[in-house]
Amino acid sequence: MPDEKKITPAETSREKEFDRRAFFVKLGLGSLSIATAGTAAFAYQFLSPNVLFEPSPIVNAGKPENYAVDSVTLDVNSGIYLIRAQEGFFALSAVCTHLGCLTAWKPELGEHGIIACPCHGSKFYVRDPGKIPGEKIEGPAPRPLPWLQVLLSDEGDLMVDRSKQISPMKFLTV
Ligand code: FES
Repeated sequence: MPDEKKITPAETSREKEFDRRAFFVKLGLGSLSIATAGTAAFAYQFLSPNVLFEPSPIVNAGKPENYAVDSVTLDVNSGIYLIRAQEGFFALSAVCTHLGCLTAWKPELGEHGIIACPCHGSKFYVRDPGKIPGEKIEGPAPRPLPWLQVLLSDEGDLMVDRSKQISPMKFLTV
């Protein structure tokens, strides 16, 4: 019979001690890694510029010849109407002055078409003779639709500046 090596209680205790030490070393390294990753993420966030990139308020509406006289064109992306009247071009904000819904051009309503808000029923003039375009016909909107500045770029494009409201009845003649 081969010699059987007996494990003494002292050896068992040393092994347990070793296991416990390895476990705590691993736990410590894991915690350190997590703390390092958290610090790095926080540092990156802290050092990166805290800037909000907003789209330009100026919209290029293209060439004047793309718009027929007496046309009303809604650009849903920029929230503006570009209107070519007999007197020239002008732009209205398409955002309802009540609670900010996007309005819609309804050529089939009224005698000359109207702008209507789908949310609470405000209606606005656009092409009615003797009325200021953007003026409210009815509904809860507290103000008319604002007129926005329209300019011609050096390349001959119509540029609408959504950040600049102007007095009504100022047309851009091309
Ligand atoms: S948001 Fe247009 S009528 Fe209320």
